[in-house]
Amino acid sequence: MTKYIVEGGNPLFGEVHISGAKNAAVAIIPAALMVNGVCRIENIPQISDVTLLLSILQDMGAKIRFLNKNTVEIDCSSAHNARVPYDSARRCRASYYLIGALLGRFGLADVALPGGCDFGGTRPIDQHLKGFNALGAQVEVQSGFINARAGETGRLKGANIFLDKVSVGATINIMLAAALAEGSTVIENVAKEPHIVDVANFLNSMGANIRGAGTDIIKIRGVEQLHGGTYSIIPDQIEAGTYMAAVAACGGQIKVCNIIPKHMDCITAKLLEMGVEVEEIEDNLLVRRIGPLMKTNIKTMPYPGFPTDMQPQLAAALCLAHGTSIITESVWSSRFRYTDEFKRMGAQIQVDGNLAIIEGVEHLSGAQIEACDLRAGAAMIIAALAAYGTSEITGVQYIERGYESVIEKFRKLGGNITSVEVPDEDEALSAG
Ligand code: UD1
Repeated sequence: MTKYIVEGGNPLFGEVHISGAKNAAVAIIPAALMVNGVCRIENIPQISDVTLLLSILQDMGAKIRFLNKNTVEIDCSSAHNARVPYDSARRCRASYYLIGALLGRFGLADVALPGGCDFGGTRPIDQHLKGFNALGAQVEVQSGFINARAGETGRLKGANIFLDKVSVGATINIMLAAALAEGSTVIENVAKEPHIVDVANFLNSMGANIRGAGTDIIKIRGVEQLHGGTYSIIPDQIEAGTYMAAVAACGGQIKVCNIIPKHMDCITAKLLEMGVEVEEIEDNLLVRRIGPLMKTNIKTMPYPGFPTDMQPQLAAALCLAHGTSIITESVWSSRFRYTDEFKRMGAQIQVDGNLAIIEGVEHLSGAQIEACDLRAGAAMIIAALAAYGTSEITGVQYIERGYESVIEKFRKLGGNITSVEVPDEDEALSAG
């Protein structure tokens, strides 16, 4: 088992280079399954979700070759269809994109129901299935698997689909399936996150015909097949926001490099309210916190609103702000499990349904804490770096699902954080 040991209390200084967007990469890799040719994907983050999805593609006959740490070539010309077993699907939420990709390419998909971060409530995929049905697929959920079949021709048919709920996953999944369908598809009430635009751009650069990504309506003219090409993934909005939140909590000044500042507006706006200075310099942001942190209220919303995936990291900083802050979580029914760990560090937080009320304290103190999901894990690092004393963070496998070189990046900023291997407690117990 890996643990992170953090000695807190130091401000952060220096530069951090932001990696490719996790949530784009985990959709673009399944999308590569639909391509007859070699996709060269640049700026791919080295994270465990990417490794897992590449290995699933490899099991389907894809040829995978890394040209360097962040550039991969995926050749799915001779890939074949295969069931995606529970053991793979449960480890990564984005495995659900394999349904859209397999349906588009082969006209059938058998994929175990996805796993991924558990926010303490259900994570339905009814809108994905509704979209596949509208495109002419028969979809059944049986023995933990989603079995989807296109009609007699083996090809989906374009349709008009209105999503009942703004969903990132459903928007991308339906877009994947419709890219190779016969005829035109219109999807309304779609999500507009930057990575949705990125997936559409990837597909278009491989020969798809998708218009409107980033607006409320996406129009797709199905094409016969996709061809190979080269594509570079956008920088990760949430990774960048995580380092910005860390400076808010710890103080100091850092340059967040290789980002798209526009994608950061919803996060920058909150940091400014909290008394953090943010200056845009080309594709970098200079983030500085010298004075005290001020309270603010946050309501999570689909893009361009404040992202739910940044909520725990900002909460870590708000634990140390002057005054009372209120966070309203409106995307997930519940996403505050991490607050119990913050309380162990001395934070004053009350959770009531989808509200967290945070009374700022003078300081947090180091403690043994456990990451319960990816972004909660990032928030634990921030809280531990800002706290006085030593913290031990377990559950770091969640963090490594989505943050490339997180230890190295924080250490470069002056954070005192190390990764240590310790015997697995269960193993130690049974051995004892
Ligand atoms: C994606 C992100 C996740 C982020 C979330 C919201 C990936 C791999 N994960 O998750 O990190 O927190 O967007 O920005 O990109 N819903 C339904 N029915 C559906 C689908 C969703 O009711 O079929 C609901 C969900 O319960 C939730 C809301 O819609 O309340 C948003 O979910 P969605 O945008 O689909 O999240 P994911 O794609 O799972």
